[in-house]
Amino acid sequence: MVKQIRNICCIGAGYVGGPTMAVMADRCPSIQFNVVDISQERIKAWNSSNLDLLPIYEPCLDEIVGRRRNKNLFFSTDLENNISQADMIFISVNTPTKTKGLGAGQASDLKWVEVCARQVAKFAKGYTIVVEKSTLPVKTAEVIKNILDAAELNSEKDNLKFDVLSNPEFLAEGTAIKDLESPDRVLIGGDDKEAILSLSKIYSNWVPKNKILHTNIWSSELAKLTANAFLAQRISSINSIGALCEATGADVREVARAIGSDSRIGSKFLDSGPGFGGSCFKKDILNLVYLSNYFGLPEVANFWEGIVKLNSWHQHRISSLVIKKLFGTVSGKKICILGFSFKANTNDTRESAAINICNDLLEEGAVLFIHDPKVKAKQIEIDLGRKENKYIKKSKDINYSNFDGNWCSTQNILTDCEGADAVIVLTEWYEYSELNWLEISNKLRKPAWVFDARSIIPLEKIKGLNFNFWRIGDGSNN
Ligand code: NAD
Ligand code: UGA
Repeated sequence: MVKQIRNICCIGAGYVGGPTMAVMADRCPSIQFNVVDISQERIKAWNSSNLDLLPIYEPCLDEIVGRRRNKNLFFSTDLENNISQADMIFISVNTPTKTKGLGAGQASDLKWVEVCARQVAKFAKGYTIVVEKSTLPVKTAEVIKNILDAAELNSEKDNLKFDVLSNPEFLAEGTAIKDLESPDRVLIGGDDKEAILSLSKIYSNWVPKNKILHTNIWSSELAKLTANAFLAQRISSINSIGALCEATGADVREVARAIGSDSRIGSKFLDSGPGFGGSCFKKDILNLVYLSNYFGLPEVANFWEGIVKLNSWHQHRISSLVIKKLFGTVSGKKICILGFSFKANTNDTRESAAINICNDLLEEGAVLFIHDPKVKAKQIEIDLGRKENKYIKKSKDINYSNFDGNWCSTQNILTDCEGADAVIVLTEWYEYSELNWLEISNKLRKPAWVFDARSIIPLEKIKGLNFNFWRIGDGSNN
């Protein structure tokens, strides 16, 4: 019989757990959603009365949380109670790349998933459907199932029973709400038909039935890794062609338009930029590399590893290029960085191209003024592994060579670009395309450079201005 779901617990209140449960709560008012996390700080932020202080910035998320919180959406650190009351449990914890031990640098670290499975085994009551929401290597469901099966056998609790499903999440940050509200597809993998139908029934409250796909559990796990690998592959492909465009006089935007018009290729995901970031592309491809090697397929592993290598090369290519254009040295030179998040409309900086590019420039002695509309200076400190030097801005008699390799944050680009040798656009925040480039041009130290690694500055806005201009993949760069 298809289980009637009244109470859902989601373990992990991160970039996936939070928005996913918020949208589900919005679409399924008769179900109670309890999002739990071990991080008290995160849960406190989710419960903040000021919706600007939610731990995640995502367009429209605040409205939904405001609408559903404390009605059928709750955030708490009480794992035990919420697990024990749940009919269905989503595991939505982080699965980063292992940093030590077997598979270090490639395999996913499943320690948080395993801890969750053990917590579920300990606290759950009766029949519970456990759903893998995190992105997991193929066959992880088996690990979860083993732990839960052992609990079933050894428990003194009556009727303890579990089914495990895989239901990977395909949302992209910055468009998470839209992606969740009208997904291209919902993928559910599993063995138990009724468990699959229970989960499908929830999604069918707002997702058309033909978009809810059922597969076996291993196909579902592998499809998630493959989707990210294919997407990342497109970016490395277009970035590699962008480098060739710069060398040959072609223009990557024109090439992208020409190939994207072929309906077999399609026009999306062909924007050349500073290299892909985000918490998942690199981690998921490396996981695929690990799995391929593990299953004796080194050629497959090498093919996918190339995508990550190209991405890393491309990021360092941009920093080298900036240094070359600034007469081979950036030491003591003031450079304004526009954008630190890995893409626009998110405050997430994980694996952001800005981290590598800024660190390269700081290593060379540059003095960076970093702006981002949503990323806090504290986060930039963590990512760069260097403290912010607020004195750079405060000093009246500024001699930047005293600040070699230091950085500070800025909220006002127009004021703070005074005397800078260069401005580099690293994230495609819309507001950067709207800047008063004439005013910026007047403030830069000449000869100055503007580097647009996102191709967002409209050419007509900078025509005739007094700075050199470089943009990604443009063979007419001077
Ligand atoms: P995240 O780091 O933002 O959130 C994970 C949360 O889990 C953290 O708040 C952490 O405190 C919590 N947690 C860890 N162990 C716990 C435990 N035992 N009990 C309770 N809470 C625990 O991660 P995320 O970005 O939300 O990603 C989660 C998973 O979803 C990953 O596997 C990721 O690959 C996948 N995914 C992420 C995205 C994305 O856009 N970020 C999209 C699709 C899939
Ligand atoms: C990506 C996938 O798009 C989601 O489907 C998936 O669920 C998610 O990873 C995940 O598993 O975590 P996300 O990383 O949030 O989503 O954002 P994307 O829009 O995919 O962008 C990733 C990176 O590629 C960003 O740095 C972005 O700037 C870059 N990018 C994207 C480009 O450089 N060019 C493009 O044309 C598109």
